[in-house]
Order: sequence, then structure tokens, then C-alpha cells
Amino acid sequence: MNRLKRAGIIGTGSCLPARVMTNQEFESFIDTSDEWIRSHTGICERRIADSDIATSDLSAEAAVRALDNAGLKPEDIDLIIVSTVTPDMMFPSTACLVQDKIGAVNAAAFDLGAACTGFLYGLTVAQNFVAAGYYKNILVIGAETLSKIADYSDRNTCVLFGDGAGAAVVSEVPEEYGILSTCIGADGSGGDLLKLPAGGSRIPASAESLRDRLHYIKMDGSKVYRFAAKAMEMAAETALKKCGLNKSDINYLIPHQANIRIIDSAVKRLKISEDKVYINIDKYGNMSAASVAVALDEASRKGLLKDDDIIVLVAFGGGLTWGSAVIKWKAIGR
Ligand code: ACO
Repeated sequence: MNRLKRAGIIGTGSCLPARVMTNQEFESFIDTSDEWIRSHTGICERRIADSDIATSDLSAEAAVRALDNAGLKPEDIDLIIVSTVTPDMMFPSTACLVQDKIGAVNAAAFDLGAACTGFLYGLTVAQNFVAAGYYKNILVIGAETLSKIADYSDRNTCVLFGDGAGAAVVSEVPEEYGILSTCIGADGSGGDLLKLPAGGSRIPASAESLRDRLHYIKMDGSKVYRFAAKAMEMAAETALKKCGLNKSDINYLIPHQANIRIIDSAVKRLKISEDKVYINIDKYGNMSAASVAVALDEASRKGLLKDDDIIVLVAFGGGLTWGSAVIKWKAIGR
């Protein structure tokens, strides 16, 4: 049997819509305040896609930037995975739309649904395809236009979300670097806590489903909150253990950006100092599958990730799902 290859991230990219929506803007149409949103979530503003922009548009731009960063051409890509809960449409997949937009003519393409954990699920799939030698260069994209499924009459949810896309190129790298381990998990019994009820085969679109606002995100915020910090700690610890490391080995943590209080609580549990944690929730809110992908690209481009650093990516989300990846960083291909 062939030895497994080492997979790693050789390039990253991201794309955020230009339009900034501040907390103050919500004050004009729902009963909320800038002070409440900041103090309860850490969010100050978020990006919102124009009406003619869909998830594949943000994805394609992020992908082009990641390819440029990796020094690859679109034809070099064998597989595109788009993790999203806001595909352009039910089918074709957003990944197929991206394949066409960027001219990745040699790539297979599929979407992956794991809500906010989607990028970690995508990385895990890509790592295993590369490790097995099945594919050489894989684009993993986490992308969302959550503004299209947020209920702007529900103050409990609409203030939380933003739009954006992040991409990473996963390829074979030298044995000393790359993705050391990943961990993904799910607890489907918590599916009701976070969902978009209608538009699928359970509740097809109808006049009633529209009237009852079932095409928007529904969330039991406090139950998700209680699950979140514990899940991030558990996922990170499991991934670290799988590669023989522990919490004290982490040089940099890139967590899902859902609520600053959830991040703070996970950081305390993992006993990491705050200056080793990447935070951009203040600027973008929760971008679901895009959050970790965009944060990784920003941290890399700002030079915060040093060669030989142990980087931990960690997320939780609807499903319920959780995931983590441990990466020994090297600026290959950048
Ligand atoms: N402005 C003003 N008041 C508000 C707002 C708002 N935007 N939103 C809620 N409130 C009110 C509530 O109505 C409630 O009022 P009441 O006591 O009169 O009923 C009060 O604030 C307190 O509500 P809590 O739910 O206790 O507020 P909490 O401090 O827990 O914050 C929040 C709510 C921000 C939603 C938090 O629970 C949270 O972050 N949960 C996790 C969300 C999450 O991570 N989702 C994950 C992923 S999304 C995805 O996968 C697509």
C-alpha cells in the first residue's frame, strides 16, 4: 500500500462585499441598539452583499485570490468544495458555478453542508483526498450570503450575520509541515436549535411557508450558546490529541466568529492568551462557513502566522456540528 501523503494549505484568499452595515442601521427598523449588539455579541458592523451578488460570486473571487497566493492556475485544480448554507440555488451546486466562473475545467465540484463548521469539514475531506493521492490540488471554499436568509424582523438573529467568502488551496506539502490532524463531529439531535425550515423536501415552498416566514434562519440562541464553547474546546483538544499535541502547544487559534463571549469562553477553557487568538467578529459578524476561512486568510496576509507555528482552527455550528484542524504552518507557495 502507498504511504499517505502530507496535505497542507499552500494559498488562501477571501472576498468581502463592499457594503458595510453598522449596528446603528438596525435601530431604525427593529427594537435594538448599538450598545446591546456590541455588549452581547462583540459585533460592530457586518458586510452585506448587493441584491445581484450571490454566494458563487464571492466564492469565485476568493478562489482566484487563493490560486494567485498559491501560484497555481485554475486548470491545476482537481476538486472544488464549497461549504455553504446559502447556495445560489438548490442545484446545480455552487461549486459547479464556481468551477465555470474561474475556468477550473479539470476540477470535479460539490457543495458540502455543515453550517458554520463547513470549512473545517471541507478541509478534512480535502486533506484525506490529497493524503490518499486521489487529488493533487483542491480548492476548499467557505462562503455565505446569510443576509439573504436572515429575518430582518427578528432582532434575536438578524443582527448576528454577515456575508463573505474565504478559500484555501490544499495540496501535498513536505512531511514536516501541513495539516497534522483534523476532527469533525455531529449531534443531529440538536438539529432543531438552528435551522432554515422551508424550501427543502420537508416543507416545500408554498404561500403558507412564505406567510409563516419559514424561509429564514430560526435559532434557539441560548441553547446554541451553551453548546458552543464546550464544543470548540472539545474539538480542539481532540484534534490536538490525535497528533500528539496539547493545548500548551498552540501558537495561534483561529476560532469561528459567532459571538465574542463564546470565543472568550473557549479561549479560557483552552488556556490560551488573548494575543494568540484571531478576532474579526467586530467587522464581519458571523459569516457561518466563511468565518474561519476569512480569518485564516487575514491572519496569514497580516504575517501573524509564522513558519513552524502550530495553528488551530476550530468551529461549531448548525447540525449540530463541530470541527477542528491542527496545522504546522509554513508559508509555502506564498
Ligand atoms: N437587541 C436587543 N435585545 C435583544 C436582541 C437585540 N438584537 N436580541 C435579543 N434581545 C433580547 C431578547 O429578546 C431577550 O429579551 P427578554 O429577556 O425580554 O426576552 C434578551 O435580549 C436576552 O436574550 P438572551 O437570549 O439571554 O441574550 P444573550 O445574551 O444570550 O445573547 C445571542 C443572545 C447573542 C443570540 C446569544 O445567545 C448567542 O450568541 N447565541 C449563539 C448564536 C450562535 O452562535 N449561532 C451559531 C451559528 S449560526 C449558523 O450556523 C448559520
